[in-house]
Amino acid sequence: MTTLGLIGSGHIGGTLARLAVDAGHDVVLSNRRGPDTLADLVAELGPRARAATPAEAAEAGDLVVVTVPLKAYRDVPVEPLRGKVVIDTNNYYPERDGHIAELDDESTTVSELLQAHLPESRVVKGFNNIYFEHLGKLGRPAGDPERSLIAIAGDDAEAKRTVTEFLDSIGYDAYDVGPLAEGWRFQRDTAAYAGVYLAPGTEFPGPGRPATAEILREKLAAAKRYRDM
Ligand SMILES: NC(=O)c1ccc[n+]([C@@H]2O[C@H](COP(=O)([O-])OP(=O)(O)OC[C@H]3O[C@@H](n4cnc5c(N)ncnc54)[C@H](OP(=O)(O)O)[C@@H]3O)[C@@H](O)[C@H]2O)c1
Repeated sequence: MTTLGLIGSGHIGGTLARLAVDAGHDVVLSNRRGPDTLADLVAELGPRARAATPAEAAEAGDLVVVTVPLKAYRDVPVEPLRGKVVIDTNNYYPERDGHIAELDDESTTVSELLQAHLPESRVVKGFNNIYFEHLGKLGRPAGDPERSLIAIAGDDAEAKRTVTEFLDSIGYDAYDVGPLAEGWRFQRDTAAYAGVYLAPGTEFPGPGRPATAEILREKLAAAKRYRDM
């Protein structure tokens, strides 16, 4: 069992915390406003959950998830994450996050930006292209024909194994898209962004559907850079 540290405890952080607790992991939640503001969520999650500051959650986690509005990525504590595996769920919404020149000109990708901020951590991109309600509902036991895959990307094979094991524990298989730089293939506005887990013929956010390797492969293959659209 793992202790999952969460930097950000909103829609995605809260959902991952619930899945982790249900799988028998401990979770340490954090947010911007302070641990007191997470009291209700901690009470709901039960004795495996506690709230702390972002630095404490980073310190406590064997595996840490960064799941904040991208504009806040520079606030993510660097030192306590040294050497750790960090899952990055973040997406770039200029209207929310302000413009980031390296993303606008596609000279980097969202998760490489976090990796540059955390040079001694091992960043794995994941969970950025699944709506939190679908994430909360689509988990299935290993071997279930309706088990979904989650796309991941990262430069460190061992880190990806760690994330794959965590995914397995919460009811998902991993689909390895390749190195972190390939993460653009499931960033915002690609075919693999909003359409993978959405029931066909429905409008986002609509009901979820299980995502097979075939579905992911097809959507990832259709990915285009903004400059090629
Ligand atoms: N919503 C989805 O279904 C979804 C799906 C995939 C990926 N994503 C991406 O994942 C990220 C999180 O999305 P979300 O929907 O979970 O966001 P959210 O519900 O708005 O939650 C954001 C969390 O980040 C915290 N936060 C903000 N600034 C922070 C800082 N400087 N230090 C520490 N924590 C901070 C917030 O704390 P306070 O509440 O105290 O402000 C809150 O707990 C975003 O980049 C989003 O684009 C979202």
